[in-house]
Amino acid sequence: MRKFLTIAAGAITVLAAGGYAFMSLKKPASAPPAAITIESSEARVAQGRYIFEILSDCGGCHSMRDFSRFGGPVVAGHKAEGTIFPREFGLPGDVSAPNITPDRETGIGAWSDGEIVRAIREGIGRDGHALFPMMPYSAYRSMSDEDVYSLVAYLRTLPPVKNRLPKTRIDFPVWFFIKSVPQPVAAPVPPPDRANRLKYGEYLVVNSGCAECHTQAKNETPDPTMKFAGGREFKLPGLIVVSANITPEPETGIGRWTEQQFLEKFAEYKTYATNGSPKVGPEGFTLMPWLNFSQLPAEDLGAIYTYLKVQPPVRNAVETHPGYPSKR
Ligand code: HEC
Ligand code: HEC
Repeated sequence: MRKFLTIAAGAITVLAAGGYAFMSLKKPASAPPAAITIESSEARVAQGRYIFEILSDCGGCHSMRDFSRFGGPVVAGHKAEGTIFPREFGLPGDVSAPNITPDRETGIGAWSDGEIVRAIREGIGRDGHALFPMMPYSAYRSMSDEDVYSLVAYLRTLPPVKNRLPKTRIDFPVWFFIKSVPQPVAAPVPPPDRANRLKYGEYLVVNSGCAECHTQAKNETPDPTMKFAGGREFKLPGLIVVSANITPEPETGIGRWTEQQFLEKFAEYKTYATNGSPKVGPEGFTLMPWLNFSQLPAEDLGAIYTYLKVQPPVRNAVETHPGYPSKR
């Protein structure tokens, strides 16, 4: 009996070691980076700036921010230099959003255009590893070729900043599971049809991350029955904010908002975006990118509104600032 147990224990150890080796060796689905040279132009740089600064708020994750001010504006001189996300964020590991300035040693200055495009839309790092999906590459898969080329053209214009960050280290077994997230983009992605407000609105909503922030997640998986219904909590030391219900439910969502009211809500923050935002305490802490989205053209906000209005209404009352009276 004892002998049997020893053999069994040995077999389990071997199997476990084999399983671990298999898990380490498994490679994410990926394709080689495209051999492309992206031509820069004024139009591309302007479109890239719009995606980086306004629509996708790339800078919101990849920069140093000042959360003592409303909306956490990016600190001057620290744009795109990367940042470390504290574990208190509820992340399964030590996560850095890398330096994506053109610095050749600590940023992405030495990367080819194809490598940058692949990282953004397919979630593959320069050395072929799967990026942690906090980087919203699954959403950016739908970004048109022209838009992602514009982003690259814009990124190349940023002032290089020397800032070395620790590499992201994800805990076991999460690092294994994220290997199945990346998928190559196999076909050309055409630009969205702007004349179709619903389709254009969907494109904007996907690439701006509304669903990521406005949907509750269980074990890092968004609950599809609660899409856009809010209730996701965001914590920084001593600060908490909960995302609002933006489904067209009339009592607890935005069902009673007219398009005009929707536009006005965003316009409220325009002066903060241009003149700087004021100091705020915990009652005003937010991760909603108001400073960025207030700069969206009315055409875009209208399309976003049109798309949100046809989503299934979900009844879910949310207190965005628990412990502080609502402003609504
Ligand atoms: C919600 C936060 C978030 C947003 C928004 C975001 N990123 Fe990231 N990004 C990350 C994180 C975190 C990583 C690193 C993942 C890892 O190390 O596994 C990353 C990785 C990258 C990389 C790979 C860099 C490297 O050195 O490996 C590039 C390039 C990149 N992001 C560009 C962008 C661009 C361009 C946008 C906007 C279109 C964007 N990111 C938006 C969080 C974000
Ligand atoms: C990084 C996370 C994040 C992203 C991305 C995000 N939101 Fe929000 N949003 C929040 C949080 C948190 C709140 C609640 C606090 C506040 O109102 O500032 C909020 C509040 C709102 C409100 C106010 C609702 C009310 O009842 O007052 C609207 C409208 C809204 N978001 C729409 C959107 C739309 C549309 C998008 C995509 C274009 C979006 N949000 C993307 C986090 C986010």
